[in-house]
Amino acid sequence: GAADKGGFPHFMLKEIHEQPSVSAVIQHRYAVEALIAESIDVDFRHVDRLRLIACGTSYYACMVAKRWFAEVAGIAADVELGSEYRYAPDITNPPREFAVLVSQSGETADTLASLEKLKSQRIGTLGIVNQQVSTLAREADYFLPLLAGPEIGVASTKAFTAQLMVLAHLAAHMAEQRGYRLAATRFRSALAKVPKLLSAVLHNEAAIIAVAERFSQATSALFVGRGALYPLALEGALKMKEISYIHAEGYAAGELKHGPIALVDENTPVVALAPSGELFAKVASNIREIAARNGRITILGDRRAILAMSDVASHALTMPITDELIQPIVAAIPLQFLAYHVAVSRGYDVDRPRNLAKSVTVE
Ligand code: G6P
Repeated sequence: GAADKGGFPHFMLKEIHEQPSVSAVIQHRYAVEALIAESIDVDFRHVDRLRLIACGTSYYACMVAKRWFAEVAGIAADVELGSEYRYAPDITNPPREFAVLVSQSGETADTLASLEKLKSQRIGTLGIVNQQVSTLAREADYFLPLLAGPEIGVASTKAFTAQLMVLAHLAAHMAEQRGYRLAATRFRSALAKVPKLLSAVLHNEAAIIAVAERFSQATSALFVGRGALYPLALEGALKMKEISYIHAEGYAAGELKHGPIALVDENTPVVALAPSGELFAKVASNIREIAARNGRITILGDRRAILAMSDVASHALTMPITDELIQPIVAAIPLQFLAYHVAVSRGYDVDRPRNLAKSVTVE
């Protein structure tokens, strides 16, 4: 009933708004790093490679985490889709591996099949799961809960940012263990700011509704980003497809020239994920190439970045200036809002999108 939606018209919108409190719960009430240290009996100094496995939105969380594990903890990771990994060939003489399986439901069939494959290979497994009573939570060697609370909207929102928070703290834990103390400290202090930053982005909702209007008539949209924001471009496009039924493609901004730039015209809105940071100049030049082909650009960035692109970007989604490491977490909310408000303006039931299931328990 409406009461369960906490006064919001849809569960999805309620769940978007819960993200600041979920991230605060993960850090404080649930003290995620103490829990990691207590419950995961693995010495990550003796792990050569991580294998991150998930499906859908959870897979994009793993793509972000891959960069954190490398940058903060100096550990390489392979990211695999459950549906692919389950049938992937085994290799002889594998490196010392540890697997992390990420799932909101803990019941996604392809992720569970991958778990079985890992177990038969005697690779240690950690399940990061929102539904604590679930097959993945029960069957993995180790288990970390997301504590995001029940997620009802079919398109994942708060579970995604909760996954990012837990994976980030896992990276900080590994960094500490592997002797990267400074990196761990910097990361933790950036993460401590996440709840406040997420609250700040929620306040931009009204401005995002105005931007959403220009997407409602589009038949196709592009989302581009680089580095840790490339997976967010993929997630932004996925959300758009899932609930607004607009064809959307996420692309690495540097790859545009190898194909998708051919699609750019005045009818294809482009969302450019381009907050200030090391790769800003690179993304900016990719955006200028789109502008030169009459693309309609919406920039997702902080004020400084938006100002720098104001000659070519007609619309903006604002996020606060943050440490680059946590930009993917903060950028998630404007993208969720955008997809949500486009879907609402097109008249769709965002909580129950056609053809999709909350949890895909069959292959
Ligand atoms: C379905 C949902 C997605 C979710 C994916 C993976 O497709 O609609 O929102 O990301 O499954 O689900 P999981 O429960 O494994 O995270």
